[in-house]
Amino acid sequence: MNEPINKIAVLTSGGDAPGMNAAIRAVVRACTYYRVDCIGVYRGYQGLIEGDFKELSARHVSNIINKGGTILKSARSKDFMTEEGRAKAYENLKKEGIGALVIIGGDGTFTGGLKFIQEYNFPIIGIPGTIDNDIYGTDRTIGYDTALNTVVEVIDKIRDTASSHNRLFFIEVMGRDAGFIALNTGIGAGAEEILIPEKDLGLDRLVESLKTSKEKGKTSSIVVVSEGDKIGKNVFELGDHIKEIFPDYDIRVSVLGHMQRGGSPSCSDRVLASRLGVAAVEYLLDRSSGVMVGITNNQVTTVGLNKAIKMNNDIDKELLKVAEITSV
Ligand code: F6P
Repeated sequence: MNEPINKIAVLTSGGDAPGMNAAIRAVVRACTYYRVDCIGVYRGYQGLIEGDFKELSARHVSNIINKGGTILKSARSKDFMTEEGRAKAYENLKKEGIGALVIIGGDGTFTGGLKFIQEYNFPIIGIPGTIDNDIYGTDRTIGYDTALNTVVEVIDKIRDTASSHNRLFFIEVMGRDAGFIALNTGIGAGAEEILIPEKDLGLDRLVESLKTSKEKGKTSSIVVVSEGDKIGKNVFELGDHIKEIFPDYDIRVSVLGHMQRGGSPSCSDRVLASRLGVAAVEYLLDRSSGVMVGITNNQVTTVGLNKAIKMNNDIDKELLKVAEITSV
């Protein structure tokens, strides 16, 4: 028979995302509600290996729902990729009497969790926390909405200066290999072109499109470039290349970088994180393991961690069409 779960641990791993604190808070408070002890693990899997644990009560997570980053800190642990590292982590969990684990993160986090379940049959539930929105089995990941709003705000500001100087701006946004941030912020900020890895626009088409924009009387342009775009050049080389073709263009490049990961989470991310944090604890207490909790059609759902990692979310073709039509 399964041993009762009296203690649940929670960790954040991989790139931080706004809303992770709201998820931690929800996990801790759900544990309190269901009369289970909660342990915070610092620095992700590295903290699991080093036994960097702290008991968290409902009051320890007061006033964090509005904070970006993660109070538990995050890391990408190389040691957890080794058998010895995972053995040490298991030993620490057992020593502490921890019966289950909530992991908040993205692809890498879930890959580590899955390996751990396969080796030790330890109960784990994943919560998708990444600005990239590149996790299968949820309509949105925690942090994505906030990142979209941050990026749109910045592009709006860049547009002010772009139009004042009649400039062409290439703006690189994050997303790793996924173009969700680029596509949605590109539409939201009214970009003339959006370059994403899922759709190879090709340099020739970009050049054509910029020519057409000029012919139509556009005096400034914004091109949003996803960092994973496969046009074959990085954004600075792309800017140089376009400058060679259009020597009279005044071109600037902006790489938005890590500012996209910071800031106070949006209400939507806070609510999503709260719902998924509570659900993760409930599923663990119901003896589920090896799944990620997500939101599909505004309902909490679960998907196997293996699927969440391996399958891709498709880019919405309707959004591609809207981007094309609204940039004429
Ligand atoms: O996965 C989140 C993310 O911000 C990606 O968009 C980006 O490619 C990567 O992390 C950057 O990683 P790091 O913070 O290690 O530079």
